[in-house]
Amino acid sequence: MLKNLTPQPPDKIIEMIGMFKADTRTDKVDLGVGVYKDEKGKTPVMRCVKQAEARLLAAQDSKSYVGLLGDLGFVGAMRDLVLGDAVPESRVSGAQCPGGTGAIRQLLELIKMAKPDATIWYSDPTWPNHPAMVKHLGLQAKTYRYFDAESCEVDFDGMMTDLGGLGADDVVILHGCCHNPTGANLSGAQFAAITDLLNAKGAIPFIDIAYQGFGDGLEEDVAALRAMAASVPQMFIAASCSKNFGLYRDRVGVAMAIMAEPSEMGIVKGAMASLNRLNFSFPPDHGAKVVEIILNDPELRADWRAELSEMRERMLVLRADMADALKRETNSDRFEFFRNHRGMFSRMGLTGDAVVSLRETNGIYMVGDSRVNVAGLPSEKIGELAKAIAGVA
Ligand code: LMR
Repeated sequence: MLKNLTPQPPDKIIEMIGMFKADTRTDKVDLGVGVYKDEKGKTPVMRCVKQAEARLLAAQDSKSYVGLLGDLGFVGAMRDLVLGDAVPESRVSGAQCPGGTGAIRQLLELIKMAKPDATIWYSDPTWPNHPAMVKHLGLQAKTYRYFDAESCEVDFDGMMTDLGGLGADDVVILHGCCHNPTGANLSGAQFAAITDLLNAKGAIPFIDIAYQGFGDGLEEDVAALRAMAASVPQMFIAASCSKNFGLYRDRVGVAMAIMAEPSEMGIVKGAMASLNRLNFSFPPDHGAKVVEIILNDPELRADWRAELSEMRERMLVLRADMADALKRETNSDRFEFFRNHRGMFSRMGLTGDAVVSLRETNGIYMVGDSRVNVAGLPSEKIGELAKAIAGVA
């Protein structure tokens, strides 16, 4: 039977991890997969996580099951972190899921359960796992323009024109902040215009928020999402704790469905619990419990915010230094977008050949579409990197 399998296309981001590992050059630079790195090039366990884990280890007296929807304390803390008081609790059904990816997958399945012929729209470009999951689930897919490859900024006119084709109950995946892979983000006013359009069409927003706190700040990064949540009848949200709590391998995420009416809670909750049961039964507890401890303890929460700010500010300094170096090397403002983009990534606007040449000649690894992980930039090598990039740009 297994001989019937056909080779699956590799995920372009995950593929880079293996390529980078296999390269024996000692001066290679990893700007590929989206994990935060400190100035030593390490992905640290956050201070508050270490402390919360120590508390958990000391206090936990059972490893018995928690519940199909996971730890409801965690789900509630995440709902508050993302949504604040934008929507009454009675309209939000949440489920703990294995990572942001698990949350996206569960919500796509929920949509499929409710409307098997639903059409899912996502930005062109987007995180490659969005189209991969939509296709795998057999849902209809449509794309909307998002990025102007010339200016490396949002193509808002193109986006609104394409979304003009939305039908009722179509679902639109939007990145809550820190667009992956481009780093080009919608303004609050643009989010508001999209909200009006979606409401006029009867379409439903689906927010993927994997980088809250990595853009302009914990509250700033969800301001547009909250405004949208307050003005739409229905919405889906997949939130990840991989990046802002550094819990990548522990797989911590939450899926939320905002319902038009609180009376839908029973049926929606039941569907989400059932989908968890069908796919993995109980979600993994450890990382979610750690997040819950941090968010509910004022001291740990304050330290988490402080460390997250340090990470965000480090990325902003790297952005500014790299933009300055690229300006010097190209004698132009062509790469000014690098300073203005927000989040962990920027798409550099280089050709595929340029990306291959940087990898083969200089040992600089970025994703094939020229996405770079800003946190991976070694500060002492910024001049060298800018020179190499300017040489192929
Ligand atoms: C990325 O975009 O590099 C990260 O979100 C990691 C992943 O799972 O793709």
